[in-house]
Amino acid sequence: MEYLRNAWYAAAAESDVTRSLRRRIILDEPVVLFRREDGSPAALADRCAHRFAPLSRGALHGDQLQCGYHGLRYDAQGNCVHNPHGPQIPAHAGIRAYPLLARYGFIWIWPGDPARADPRLLPDLSPFDRGEGWRVQHGYLGIRAHYQLIIDNLLDLSHVDYLHPAFTTGGAIGNTRHEVIETDGVVHSNRWKPNCTVSPLLTRCWGRIHVIGDARSRMRWHAPGTLFLDIGATEPGGEPRDGVTLSFLHLLTPETATRTHYFWAAIRNRAVDDVELTNWIQATTERAFADEDEPMIEAQQENIGPGVDIASLRPVYLSPDLAPAKARRILARLIEAERAAAPAVRSAARA
Ligand code: FES
Ligand SMILES: [Fe+2]
Repeated sequence: MEYLRNAWYAAAAESDVTRSLRRRIILDEPVVLFRREDGSPAALADRCAHRFAPLSRGALHGDQLQCGYHGLRYDAQGNCVHNPHGPQIPAHAGIRAYPLLARYGFIWIWPGDPARADPRLLPDLSPFDRGEGWRVQHGYLGIRAHYQLIIDNLLDLSHVDYLHPAFTTGGAIGNTRHEVIETDGVVHSNRWKPNCTVSPLLTRCWGRIHVIGDARSRMRWHAPGTLFLDIGATEPGGEPRDGVTLSFLHLLTPETATRTHYFWAAIRNRAVDDVELTNWIQATTERAFADEDEPMIEAQQENIGPGVDIASLRPVYLSPDLAPAKARRILARLIEAERAAAPAVRSAARA
């Protein structure tokens, strides 16, 4: 399985990385996440250099991680610093440490060449760094499907009217103005629906029962698996700042070729202290993702088969497939360029 390695991937919500050891498979590699005593996050290969036991079954001693099998200890940089079986630290006893970044409520991991782990390469995901006046909430799904099938799903929101009753704006996909733009390797798929019945999700956030307004949904994809969705509504002809905004992050991190970590976050600008609304958004979003998208995508993966490229099956191409097709082409180019330029990165990653 080829992945883009020199990129930031979401590894966990910030609140999920604690002094307890958390194992996570990322791009086919076992990783253990934890926090140092000073609160900074750390990620090491979850595979001891001795007999390859998962270090997540061991224990932290200060900032050192002790293997639960025969007691080798590693520091947070992956150096073996203690061997209880002899005076010497064996040669090649070190393990891999991954560069991390804490931003927008998530811990991001760099599975490629550590020398190229530049924080400036993380896409700008504001407003998820906003505080006062906004309410953020998070969720997670483990999906048994290739991550690109989920990118296809998110870049083609024509499925909303068919699969997600709570998100729908009253059908009429045909009346939607839709544009797909590609700029500097970023794909935008934007939809506007003037004078439509605003979706139950937005009307509830807006504090209204039923409203006719101008609705928008603007999705933006950054390689390899970061998507930002701005949805909102205004009075007909109104300005976005005067209406309701509910934005989502969808962060897709391949676990394996057929499993994906799907992190999401939502942020809104209305009724930010309304706990009942926050719970309702959580339940509605989880229902849409877990009960509607997830079973459909997993069944799609089953039909396609493991390790099969959907393009090789000659799928019928419809107009909403333009944005997913652009993203697939960009990602394939990036993976190919990385493979051609630095084949050593992948083998070093497995060392
Ligand atoms: S497997 Fe870790 S010390 Fe033996
Ligand atoms: Fe969906």
